[in-house]
Amino acid sequence: MIEVCNITKRFGPTVAVRNVNFSVPKGEVLGLLGPNGAGKTTTMRILTCYMPADEGTATVAGYDVHTDSLEVRKRIGYLPENAPLYKEMFPLAYLDFLSRVRGIPTSQRKARVERVVETCGLTGVLHKRIGEMSKGYQQRVGLAQTLIHEPEVLILDEPTTGLDPNQIKEIRTIIREIGREKTVILSTHILPEVQATCNRVIIMRNAELVADGSPQELSRRATGTALLVVEARGPADEIRQGLAALDGVKSVTVAGAEDSFSRLELAVTDGKAVAERVFAAAVRAGWTLRELKAESASLEQVFYELTIGEKEEQ
Ligand SMILES: Nc1ncnc2c1ncn2[C@@H]1O[C@H](COP(=O)(O)OP(=O)(O)O)[C@@H](O)[C@H]1O
Ligand SMILES: [Mg+2]
Repeated sequence: MIEVCNITKRFGPTVAVRNVNFSVPKGEVLGLLGPNGAGKTTTMRILTCYMPADEGTATVAGYDVHTDSLEVRKRIGYLPENAPLYKEMFPLAYLDFLSRVRGIPTSQRKARVERVVETCGLTGVLHKRIGEMSKGYQQRVGLAQTLIHEPEVLILDEPTTGLDPNQIKEIRTIIREIGREKTVILSTHILPEVQATCNRVIIMRNAELVADGSPQELSRRATGTALLVVEARGPADEIRQGLAALDGVKSVTVAGAEDSFSRLELAVTDGKAVAERVFAAAVRAGWTLRELKAESASLEQVFYELTIGEKEEQ
């Protein structure tokens, strides 16, 4: 449904997107994850025909975003970052207006508006002006707007930014619902977002694509660097050396000492197996353990390694 081939976009000396390639099959919900400034919005703007790429090509449903931009726009619903809305309008009038802009025949407009009102749960707020609604409902109006022409593809730029936790949950539910029928790309700088909503993730960093896979696949990539946190009382040097000698422990970092307890962080190959060995070692040596926590390899670690971690190395 979406093919992005070697796109590059520069703003003066800034390279916002460099040589990015990915494709999205029909029906997939793809998360575009990356820290602020990574190039997510620029990638989405190229796909939605908002601006052209300097190099490379992108197609949506087989249409080139540059040469067939009208055909592409017909097939895309776009929710920009900080979705602009006509705040003084009532939602029905606003959605009717947009259906006219989208060229939907008069005879179909009412039914279309009713359908998106239903999908986005707007029935209870139809008497309010958009500007009088909570941010969560305003975002629902923004989502309704993307659906009015029944596009095959949705491009949602940070759809939950600025919402409170309940509103985030509700918007995610709506997105998942929509994602059952449509191809969706949503961008986010927040990890739980992709775990909650997406079946595939691509990670961008410094204008480049650095990872592509399912949330589970990306988590698996981090299993080599799981972390085990240990707090033990006993001779500090003996504990450090004893833990470092255990099978599966790659390194030991002393993270602090408090009330005669040492706090150590172990980089390990397999958190659970090593945790058992730590326990057995403590029993043998007579150390008191008060904390033994395996931080399971998470997407968060992959994200950190691929984004912040590498940046610091540079
Ligand atoms: N219109 C623009 N003019 C100049 N620089 C821009 C413009 N849009 C984005 N950039 C720059 O391009 C880079 C990527 O930005 P953006 O695509 O907005 O990232 P993200 O959405 O991941 O936060 C940033 O360094 C940003 O400052
Ligand atoms: Mg952005």
